[in-house]
Amino acid sequence: MEEKKVRRIGVFTSGGDAPGMNAAIRAVTRTALHMGIECIGIRRGYHGLINCDVVPLDLGSVSGLSRQGGTMLYSARSKEFMTPEGREKALNTCKLLGIDGLVGIGGDGTFRGLLELSKLGISVVGIPGTIDNDISCSSYTIGFDTACNTALDSIDKLRDTMQSHERCSVVEVMGRHAGHLALYVGVACGATAVIVPERPFDAEQDILEPIRRARLNGRTHFMVIVAEGVEGGAYAVADQIRAATALDTRVTVLGHVQRGGSPSSRDRVTATYMGYEAVKLLAEGESGRVICLQNDQYVDMDINEALSMKKELDMQTYTVMRIMTGVDHAPDTVRPSRSDA
Ligand code: F6P
Repeated sequence: MEEKKVRRIGVFTSGGDAPGMNAAIRAVTRTALHMGIECIGIRRGYHGLINCDVVPLDLGSVSGLSRQGGTMLYSARSKEFMTPEGREKALNTCKLLGIDGLVGIGGDGTFRGLLELSKLGISVVGIPGTIDNDISCSSYTIGFDTACNTALDSIDKLRDTMQSHERCSVVEVMGRHAGHLALYVGVACGATAVIVPERPFDAEQDILEPIRRARLNGRTHFMVIVAEGVEGGAYAVADQIRAATALDTRVTVLGHVQRGGSPSSRDRVTATYMGYEAVKLLAEGESGRVICLQNDQYVDMDINEALSMKKELDMQTYTVMRIMTGVDHAPDTVRPSRSDA
């Protein structure tokens, strides 16, 4: 077997946190120790790398971590790291601590930072962790499943009270640039309409018509899911509904609650596999890679290539959503007898 290429690795979380990041930290640490590699936790992402904010990781420090939400290493977004001077400081920390390999858990911004460090001679591997599921090279990112379930739990509760009062609920879920969460949650909760930033929408056709059609079919309460990145967000959509209907329409912005909570089994297992794969790659002397899930297989890809890809909306789910909501309805799906539309 080839001699291992790294002796001490650093692991950090960066950008928006996601449930399952702790499980990934644990997996990185345990795999590294298993392979005889030392592991150092870098706190607060690139900020901690610049400022030498570190903590040694051993079996004890990651014990019981899989089930915990958030990230024990904290997360941050660092402006200083965007500058050559900031990156030089980060490199100096690596040299000072003898870190020859880095595992960064986060999104595209995290991977761009890793790419810069790899150009400076550090071996790097990225793990996709974000509730947005918007990393192009991977069909799945750590945290997405838990965030979907958290949103769904709140929406189910909202539905109870909306049903009692015969109201229309407009729920905004996270996703500044991506509608994956809104789409999945919308399908899962049986929404009346789902609006995502990736697709243009027409209020009349995509929101008001489905509501009217649902009313004709006997429904008296309505659930509209809007991704954060849609212009004007849930409030603008609610205004359009109020202007066109007499429905008592209420807005709920789920916000950061979606980023918290104990990770689901899917997120724990995915994080564990990805953490293991990341260290294995570093130990094999690889660098500049991102761990991805593709066709249910854990594979790795060049960071440059990964960053050049653009994640499209899952059109199969989008099509199913449109059929389920009735946007793309068959002409005979409306019962013609009701007169209260
Ligand atoms: O990228 C994850 C995410 O939760 C997005 O869905 C959201 O738009 C953003 O982070 C919020 O960021 P912050 O926590 O900095 O407000």
